[in-house]
Amino acid sequence: MSRIRSVIRGTGAYLPERIMTNDEISTIVETSDQWIQERTGIKQRHIAADGQLTSDLAVAAAKGALASAGIAADQLDLIVLATTTPDKTFPATATAVQAKLGMTGGAAFDVQAVCSGFLFALATADSMLKTGLFKTALVIGAETFTRILDWSDRGTCVLFGDGAGAIVMTAETDADAGDRGVFAHHIRTDGTKSDLLHVDGGVSSTGTIGHVRMLGNQVFRHAVTNISNAIKVVLEDTNTRVEEIDWFVPHQANQRILTGVAKKMKLDEDKVVSTVALHGNTSAASIPLALHTAVSDGRIQPGHLILSEAMGGGFSWGASLFRL
Ligand code: ACO
Repeated sequence: MSRIRSVIRGTGAYLPERIMTNDEISTIVETSDQWIQERTGIKQRHIAADGQLTSDLAVAAAKGALASAGIAADQLDLIVLATTTPDKTFPATATAVQAKLGMTGGAAFDVQAVCSGFLFALATADSMLKTGLFKTALVIGAETFTRILDWSDRGTCVLFGDGAGAIVMTAETDADAGDRGVFAHHIRTDGTKSDLLHVDGGVSSTGTIGHVRMLGNQVFRHAVTNISNAIKVVLEDTNTRVEEIDWFVPHQANQRILTGVAKKMKLDEDKVVSTVALHGNTSAASIPLALHTAVSDGRIQPGHLILSEAMGGGFSWGASLFRL
């Protein structure tokens, strides 16, 4: 009996129209374009409009992914949406996306793993396709992350932006998939480190939404180590050499983390897709946004082998390997 493999059929992304530059942030908190660029590589970020919901961003990205896959919304039977900034406490933002897309069957739910959310959602959807539970999945990372920022905290508010990215995956037999497919994931969490990066509010604790709190330099140290370990595991599990990777599509937290991981893992820096300068850190949206950016500009081609990695609140971290 042939095995089932998930194949990525299309990508999409959406960024809100409004751009906030570092110079504009310098009018809100004591910082400078030079400091932000030197420490993070970020030049600007996009900010969702008043009334624009996470599900609105997600739907725009989803429509792009469906169009590029040539798949209609009513063919979907699964939506897994990674977000830390849901429309409402419940129901899941994925169900709002389901309704807005006019998809009435199947199942839709959210995954919460902060900046690693897209990789956790990808692993979840991939596992469900492989077991035959569903056939056609939309995997989304979408955030209105700027809504949980403390705009008086210069250590965090300069880092984040809003946006969404999406992919469409179908379950295929090994024979039909050829050399394409999602090959491996390594996802991990460590709840003992949650105080280093968290939101100081919540439904059952304070009854408020809360704001992002982060000890950035400590998170930074853990990020490079955890990401590098996850990459090693995925490469070993799949018997893949670093030189075989066509593109690295990392979570976009900080250019120094991207460069640090690339150096540690001996990755060719020219193969690292970096969008952090223009998008900032869009949390769960950053990987599919970066993936779509490099697919759209022609760098990533069908058949390319892609390694993705992330680290975020929880701590949560992971890596995935797939061929488009
Ligand atoms: N402008 C000017 N000065 C600033 C700013 C700012 N925006 N922010 C902090 N500073 C100051 C600090 O107050 C400190 O001043 P002091 O020395 O007088 O006390 C100094 O700069 C150095 O602060 P550090 O925090 O040590 O700066 P660092 O070089 O570590 O850069 C940063 C901070 C950019 C946050 C970095 O640590 C980082 O990127 N960390 C990782 C973030 C990350 O990856 N998060 C995970 C994903 S996010 C998620 O999951 C939600």
